[in-house]
Amino acid sequence: MAHFEMPVDKWGSSLAMCCSFFGIECKVFMVKISYNQKPYRRLMMETWGANCTASPSTETKAGRSILEKYPDSPGSLGMAISEAVEEAVSDEHTKYALGSVLNHVMIHQSIIGLEAKKQMEMAGAYPDVIIGSAGGGSNFAGLAFPYALDKINGKDIDIIAVEPASCPTMTRGPFAYDFGDTVQMTPLLPMHTLGHNFVPAPIHAGGLRYHGMAPLVSQLILDKIIRPESIQQLETFKAGMTFARSEGYISAPECNHAVAMTIREALKAKEEGKEKTILFNWSGHGLVDMAAYESFFRGKLADHELPQEQIDVALKDLESLPKPRQAT
Ligand SMILES: Cc1ncc(COP(=O)(O)O)c(C=O)c1O
Repeated sequence: MAHFEMPVDKWGSSLAMCCSFFGIECKVFMVKISYNQKPYRRLMMETWGANCTASPSTETKAGRSILEKYPDSPGSLGMAISEAVEEAVSDEHTKYALGSVLNHVMIHQSIIGLEAKKQMEMAGAYPDVIIGSAGGGSNFAGLAFPYALDKINGKDIDIIAVEPASCPTMTRGPFAYDFGDTVQMTPLLPMHTLGHNFVPAPIHAGGLRYHGMAPLVSQLILDKIIRPESIQQLETFKAGMTFARSEGYISAPECNHAVAMTIREALKAKEEGKEKTILFNWSGHGLVDMAAYESFFRGKLADHELPQEQIDVALKDLESLPKPRQAT
């Protein structure tokens, strides 16, 4: 039996490890740009016995159709999902395991927030601000959802989901029905989206390069329980350096988005003369991302201004799809 999976890196590694424990074959479609940028992540999966394929690949119809149109495509999470789903539906012994976006993933990740609450209680503290980086939404929702319940019940908490400015799903994408993948194989999901054909710039936070956002996170944005923010790449790496030099830990580029927002909020509180408890999700280490840090040190990284026309073009693909009810 084989498991196919989308390449949220931390998820691909976890799945590869678990499959090896249970004697299950594992195949990972890893976004091409991440495959090239993060060879050690791929090697971790291979060490646990997974077969790792750069997506788009020539192994699926979906991959071949994308490569025909865009031979140099850096890939996207939406494309990798198309390839994985195609392999899963073409073989009854193959199952597909998605590591983010879908609501059930948000719910099982909420163990993070439930544990955080217990730890905060032990520390005699309660957060004023909660922060997480959001690609498909899983680590953010995992921490935030137990606190979102408190906010719905009247607590005053600022809950911030952070995304890259070059893939601004929550801050610039409409709430619409869209496919979770490029080749339109998934059911339609009501979510903030930039359109299933949107291909973000090849920034180093590969896990945040997804066109959509979990429907539950999207709904809580509409309900004003969650505040979305976007940050440019260079600010996130600067924040990662500050964090490493003060706390010791080297964060993944995705995680640096949460670190950067935490620094912003801490500085804001200082300016306002307020004492605030800020809780953020440190979603992963960056030890397999040192090449990205090297690019930053050598001045090779840039910020990306995403032109509105690029979003408008991608959103044209949504025109013929049904429209969800908007918040009142
Ligand atoms: C370290 C890290 N943080 C955050 C994310 C974002 O994913 P999600 O929004 O599902 O938590 C990823 C995805 O690859 C990641 O590798």
